[in-house]
Amino acid sequence: MARREYRTDEIVVHWDSSRCIHTGICLRSLHSVFNLRRKPWVDVRAAAAEEIVATIEKCPSGALGYTRPEGPGEAAPDVTTIVPSPGGPLFVRGDVEVRDADGGLMAAGYRMTLCRCGHSQNQPFCDLSHRDVGFTDNPRVIADHRQEAADPSGVSEQSTG
Ligand code: SF4
Ligand code: FES
Repeated sequence: MARREYRTDEIVVHWDSSRCIHTGICLRSLHSVFNLRRKPWVDVRAAAAEEIVATIEKCPSGALGYTRPEGPGEAAPDVTTIVPSPGGPLFVRGDVEVRDADGGLMAAGYRMTLCRCGHSQNQPFCDLSHRDVGFTDNPRVIADHRQEAADPSGVSEQSTG
């Protein structure tokens, strides 16, 4: 596992390999900058800083981050969302802190993918172990929660009964 920084005068790209869940979003979104066939795989001079920012903010895990020496940093999302991916982690976006049972800070950030299979060796983050253990959702549970969120009063359920 590695942490790296790639910098120009306009932007510093931060890379934490332990957080990557290999979605390939960065590679598809800005191949001139993010290219696994090159060493180093990030060429921060190959695109405008704004393009790099736009791609990094799509990274769901927070493996990629950035700071701007003179410009605005990443803004916190207005709304915090937690999305369970089918058979995989929780996709979290928001101004989030993960704390342990004693209140100790485990992680903080605006983008993270949290393990919900229980098998990650990099808790609280997903490390793709869910694939090895064949983690699956109970689709009925997700459907039930969706129904409750859409109609917390339960009125429509009663009226159809
Ligand atoms: S977008 Fe983020 S999680 Fe996906 S491959 Fe790139 S660094 Fe990894
Ligand atoms: S959900 Fe990915 S390792 Fe647990």
